[in-house]
Amino acid sequence: MVRLRGAGCRFGPREALRDVDLTIHAGERVAVLGASGAGKSTLLALLNGSLEPTTGSVEVFGEDPALLSVPRRRRLQRRIGSVSQDLALIEQVRVLHNVNAGRLGRWSTTRALASLVWPHSLDVVVDALDRVDLGWALHERTERLSGGERQRVAIARLLVQAPELVVADEPVSSLDPVRAAEILGLLRTSPAVRTVVVALHQPALAQKHCARVLGLREGRLVLDLPAAEVSDAALNDLYALV
Ligand SMILES: Nc1ncnc2c1ncn2[C@@H]1O[C@H](COP(=O)(O)OP(=O)(O)OP(=O)(O)O)[C@@H](O)[C@H]1O
Ligand SMILES: [Mg+2]
Repeated sequence: MVRLRGAGCRFGPREALRDVDLTIHAGERVAVLGASGAGKSTLLALLNGSLEPTTGSVEVFGEDPALLSVPRRRRLQRRIGSVSQDLALIEQVRVLHNVNAGRLGRWSTTRALASLVWPHSLDVVVDALDRVDLGWALHERTERLSGGERQRVAIARLLVQAPELVVADEPVSSLDPVRAAEILGLLRTSPAVRTVVVALHQPALAQKHCARVLGLREGRLVLDLPAAEVSDAALNDLYALV
């Protein structure tokens, strides 16, 4: 589903990612761990085609997003459900529109625009919001919600989109421990979500909810193991200050 070969990303003098080789198959649930600045968001941005590598190559669904025309790249990206670290919600509209945006990519422009005024098949949206415990927020303005509530709106949007690949960058960072576990459980068990790559800051959550754990350190992939085989020593190494 995803293949990186010698992928690297440089921002000016800063090497955010170096020489990463990685294959992720359909159906895998993969956590990405690493200290702040280790390159997690950069790696995820390569996976969803929002960033191109400066060295090496990226293949998603068998295609290199960098080589596609803009319309074809958009079509490819529609098959990917992304939760970015900043959530990318539209603040000024009601929650239902943000959740509904999950399926806009599959609709014609006319239908998508019309849905902003007259949202149809609201039941799908209501169901997704119920699943993240936000049924009450359907008609709330998004900007009024708390950080954790907004993260759950982004998850509901993902459930509505039901993409082939989910790329989620710290989707539970603002949630309390119980809610964080609940949301990751939802991502693990929902039939709408099959293949997941998720950046997390808590190793315990990664080991509990993902079968495979990747560890980045200073832009290098230094750990790639089944969750059960990740030792405390390896985790300590990942987060040790240099
Ligand atoms: N657009 C950019 N321009 C310049 N430098 C960048 C850019 N994006 C990332 N970097 C740098 O690349 C490195 C890796 O950043 P990245 O955001 O991938 O880290 P991260 O592991 O996601 O960190 P965090 O846990 O804080 O989100 C950092 O040193 C960062 O400053
Ligand atoms: Mg990040």
